[in-house]
Order: sequence, then C-alpha cells, then structure tokens
Amino acid sequence: TGASRRIAVFGAGYIGLVTGACFAELGHRVVVRDIQPERIRLLNSGEVPFFEPGLGDLITRNKERLAFTLDVEEAVRDAEAVFVCVDTPPTASGDADLSRVWAVVDALRGASHLVAVVVKSTVPVGTGARVRAALDERDLGHVGYASNPEFTAEGRAVEDFLRPDRVVIGASDDAVARWVADLYGRLDSPVELMDVASAEMVKLASNALLATRITFINEIATVCEATGADIGHVSRAVGLDHRLGPHFLRAGLGYGGSCFPKDSRALRAMASNSGYPFQLLNAVIEVNELQPRRAIQRLKTELDGLKGRRIALLGMTFKPGTDDMREAPSTIIASRLLAEGATVTCWDPMAPHTDGRQEPWSSATRRPDPLGAMTDADAAILVTEWPELTDVDWTAAARLMRNPLLLDGRNLLDPAALLSAGFTHMGVGRGTRRPR
Ligand code: UDX
Repeated sequence: TGASRRIAVFGAGYIGLVTGACFAELGHRVVVRDIQPERIRLLNSGEVPFFEPGLGDLITRNKERLAFTLDVEEAVRDAEAVFVCVDTPPTASGDADLSRVWAVVDALRGASHLVAVVVKSTVPVGTGARVRAALDERDLGHVGYASNPEFTAEGRAVEDFLRPDRVVIGASDDAVARWVADLYGRLDSPVELMDVASAEMVKLASNALLATRITFINEIATVCEATGADIGHVSRAVGLDHRLGPHFLRAGLGYGGSCFPKDSRALRAMASNSGYPFQLLNAVIEVNELQPRRAIQRLKTELDGLKGRRIALLGMTFKPGTDDMREAPSTIIASRLLAEGATVTCWDPMAPHTDGRQEPWSSATRRPDPLGAMTDADAAILVTEWPELTDVDWTAAARLMRNPLLLDGRNLLDPAALLSAGFTHMGVGRGTRRPR
C-alpha cells in the first residue's frame, strides 16, 4: 500500500491546496490547476495566497513533487487521478452552484488514461451520479468515479488532513475505492468505504450536526440568561458525559465561516427540493441568524440605546487563527451597530485590510491594538476569541473607555477578573455583573 501516484488537483483554494500539498507530503506527485492567473503566479513564486498554518512549509518542503499551473493539459496529461476541489457557492435558490464542477468535467474530454475522477468539493447528494453519467457520455465510461469529502477545519487543515478521524470514500466500483484509499495508505486512520450518495451525505450531515450542536448550546445559553444559570458550568458538565463529549459546546455569537452556514443551507435546500421540509435544520439556521442580533439587543438595552454610542469590536474574523471573514458574525454585528447609529471601532490581528472598499467595515475605524479600539468607547464586544485578548491590560482598558462595559461574545475572559478591573461584564449564557 501507499504506492506513489500522479495526481491532478483542480482548484487551488483551501481544500485544493491543502489536498495537493498533503498528497505531495504522502509521496505522490501532484499538479494543482487553477483558473486564476494571479493565484498560480503567487504559488509559483513560493507564496501561499491565504493564511493557513503549516501550509507554506509543506509546499516548500515538497516542491519537487508539487507543480502549479493554469493549463488543463499540463495538469491532466500524466495524471492517474483528477481531484475536483473547486468551490460550490450557493445560487439564488440556495442550491449549490456546480458550474465549476461541470467546467472540470468538460475539461477532461479525451482523458481516457485516467483511473479515476474524485470529487472533494461539497456537493448535493446525487451529483456523483450525474458526473458519472457525464463521463459516460464523453466516452470516459471506463474512468472510475469516487466521492471523497473533506472534513478539515481552517487553521488546522494540514493536521486534519494528515491525521483525519476517518477517510470517507464513496464509489460504486470496489477497485476504484481501493485505489483511492491507497492514496492515503501511509496514514494510520480508519477508511470508510461506501456508495457515492452516502459519502456525499456524510459531509452534509457532519456539518449540519456540528452546526446543530453549536446552536443547541447557544439556545441553552439564552435560557441560562433568562433563568440565572451559568453556561460555563452547564457546558462543561454536559460535555463530561462520554456519550456527548466536550467539543462544539461553546456558546457564542453563532457559527460562521465558509462551511457551516453554506452547507446547512445547501442541505436544507436539498431536502426542500425533494419535498421534505427539514424543520430542525431550518430552526438551526434561523437561531444562528438571530444570535448576533440578540447580543446587539442586549447591549442596546444595557446602554439605553445605541445611537451616538461608540462601540469597540474585538475580533473580526469568523474564528481565531484565520484571516477568513466569510460569514463572520462580526459583519452582522458591525452593520447592525451602524444601522442603530453607533460609531464602530475595531481590532483584529489578521483580518485583511479592505481599504474601505467593503461595507460595513468601510464605516468602521480600524485600530492596530485592542486598547486603541476601546479608547473612549461606551462598550466593547469580544467577537472573536483571539488569544491575544487574554493578555490585554483590562484595568488600563477600563480607564481608557468612556464606559467600561464588555460583552464577551465568546466567554473567553474570566468575569471576576473583569469585574475587579472595573468592568461591567456581560457574557453569553450568564447574567450581567456590575462592579460595586
Ligand atoms: C468546519 C468544520 O469543522 C470542518 O469539518 C468542515 O470541513 C468545514 O467547516 P471551519 O469552518 O474551519 O470548519 O471552523 P470550525 O472551527 O469548525 O468553526 C466553525 C464556526 O463554529 C466558527 O464560527 C466557530 O466560532 C463556531 N463554533 C465552533 C462555536 O460557536 N462554538 C463551538 O463550540 C465551536
């Protein structure tokens, strides 16, 4: 097992680059193809187009086995398998836009030497069957097809890929399934073989269940606020039940990112399209959209209105350890605050500078450090749990603020410490505490 293979990866985004670099690390020869000239130029000059820990090193370390190109021919010519890692953004109807997947399939015309086409992109159940039919129509009937969804989380993608909880492979042909499994041969992780539709479903089900868990604990947090319980104790003790486990029980301002919001909406759309209203998932999506708005509402009540108030946002990215702003709760929070007539100052160590181009951040003032953002503010909202925020001198912050009030949207900080620093402290799922 674990023979060295030649692989073409279509798409040099998060999934494609991590897949390409990690397969190279596992000893395979990989050509990554993308349609964006700038992206390929960057990669060829040794740069990574986005931040992902360890990815740059991995690419450098394996550069002998890794090439980047715009050219389909060059990518496919010597490849034994093509991995489809293009993005599948939502369309107006909420369905996944598969046009990039189809563009790859079209580009494979004549590639009859391939052993397999493998889709890693997140796609609706049934896509594999349609790709299979399209391959057959293009005289590629003997080329195998497999679904091989990816479960890597941003910020730990390389580690997740090289030490996965499981590798999921869906194929109708056993030989193809084993061939794909063999690519991961050097990893010591369980391989789950199944049919294509089930593999497609695993990805959607996993993300929807994780989103549901987060949303469940967020709703418990709301009940805690209303009843005087403390979500910190509740989450911890609930998570100690071995049947539940401790992960994804952190209450906060709602999930964001490139996967959970998109994939849960795609699964809902998929269910609706087949005439089944996925009510539980529907509720999850609604509650998650409400979550940041609820926080704003609490703050509005506490400050007796937001008009003319200066609010500091600590953290902008959808989670720490990434520069990714996709579906970040901070965006909703900033635009709601601005709509209420507040002034917004913000800090984030990694969010890209938008040069004032992108709403709502164009109307927010960015500061290079948290204390700068909090100066003269009427309240601060901790939006992203950046570890840097635990090192802030909160006593100094309290003095710099017009009104030392912190809404800790991720329950990162110790309420007692904030209280003794002179803050009024609001957490998610715990009551408001005021200094004496
Ligand atoms: C996720 C999945 O983890 C990954 O398997 C999938 O392939 C892609 O989507 P990612 O979006 O990178 O990965 O981030 P993740 O760390 O899972 O967090 C997602 C969101 O949930 C973040 O906004 C985070 O703040 C939030 N979250 C997570 C909570 O609010 N509470 C938690 O307990 C955990």
